[in-house]
Amino acid sequence: MTDTLATWGGWDPAIRDDPFGHFAQARARCPVQKARLADGHPAWVVLGYDAARQALSDPRISKDMLAALQDNGDVVAEGLPGPEFSRHMLNVDPPDHTRLRRLVSRAFAPSRVAALEPAIRTIADSLLDELNAAGPTATVDLIEGYAHPLPFRVIGELLGIPEADRAQLHAWFQVLLTGWVGDPPAEAVEASDGIVAYLAELAAAKRRSPADDLVSVLVAAEDDSLTTQELLSTLFQLIVAGHDTTASLIGNGVVALLDHPGQLQALLADLGQLPAAVDELMRFTAPVPHATFRVTAEPVTLAGVRIPAHEQVLVCLGSANRDPGRFPAPDVLDIGRRQNGPNLGFGHGIHYCLGAPLARLEARVAFEALLGRHAGLRLAVDRHALTWTHGDGLVLRGLAALPVVLGPARNQP
Ligand code: HEM
Repeated sequence: MTDTLATWGGWDPAIRDDPFGHFAQARARCPVQKARLADGHPAWVVLGYDAARQALSDPRISKDMLAALQDNGDVVAEGLPGPEFSRHMLNVDPPDHTRLRRLVSRAFAPSRVAALEPAIRTIADSLLDELNAAGPTATVDLIEGYAHPLPFRVIGELLGIPEADRAQLHAWFQVLLTGWVGDPPAEAVEASDGIVAYLAELAAAKRRSPADDLVSVLVAAEDDSLTTQELLSTLFQLIVAGHDTTASLIGNGVVALLDHPGQLQALLADLGQLPAAVDELMRFTAPVPHATFRVTAEPVTLAGVRIPAHEQVLVCLGSANRDPGRFPAPDVLDIGRRQNGPNLGFGHGIHYCLGAPLARLEARVAFEALLGRHAGLRLAVDRHALTWTHGDGLVLRGLAALPVVLGPARNQP
């Protein structure tokens, strides 16, 4: 290994807040390139659309994180809460992947998800009522008061997390998902310990008295087709995947629309365009800019670049979704864009986001409720004051806060 590798990640705030120019420059140099991550680990970064699509679905590229760690210490170690919580579908290959995904997939089937729409709308309306209580000219934080609690309440309902426990659990996850390089800070260790103990206790409670929720479904499958480690890992992963990502899509999407008043006006004129607009906001704002851990099980050639076996592969979805070879004028936000095939925001292949129908529905309802009521929504701070957090984590990209003035509320039908 040489020390001449470019670093990927660990960017200064200017790049983190707007990484797309950086992605474009790197992609123009080469769609697949070897780099060093901010924590020192080497990785092959995949930036072009076609190469990214191949990497996401090539069976020679493994997601078995624990096997890879045993094989080669140079792959990225799982962060908190450690290996006992990393045995979930996103970190394994078939046949384990097939088994673990099947256990929960029924809960995310499109017809089941569609039935959740009235409940999601009620959550969105009640959050907006709470924000409105401050008055039409007050500054409110749309992340803290809307984008985050909405998907967290939905995943809480699906899993059967008692309402009284959600605030504490949410606070712990917020700390854990901030991202850091090197050793985790003390508050992250504390949050992780809290989550581990809580989820173990939740599973025990559902074993004692099962209910009509996803934790009870998983507990019932324990022993036969699911180990306790897999059960706890799955709960952890569903909560992480199920809220921070969607919150970022809503927050990033609102900023993108405010940045493009013409697009916002076009959307306001016909909110029926929202399903397509949500996909374009996903492509344009990259709430999940990089896919999760992958490692080559054998040599693989991507875009003419040969990657040896046992090396880490990092697929940059945010770059692939702005590849001009796939999306003409990729840096233009166009809610009426014909997508020319799906963008890779939800991934591709067997690990394609299981929650995609739910995330699309949550985002559509969140925008519909917000814009339907508050067509005059505006930023309450200078645009440049907005900062994207998640520290140096590469997988999540969301705002620390989004201070807005909602303006007068339109009456709802
Ligand atoms: C805007 C919101 C979301 C985005 C952008 C997103 C993105 C992604 C991406 C890119 C992957 C694939 C990662 C990879 O291959 O490395 C993924 C997988 C996954 N997502 Fe999502 N996701 C979102 C919302 C959700 C929600 C709401 C849930 C569930 C409640 C969910 C559950 C999952 C699960 C379980 C997987 C793993 C699938 C597998 O390994 O087979 N996601 N998501």
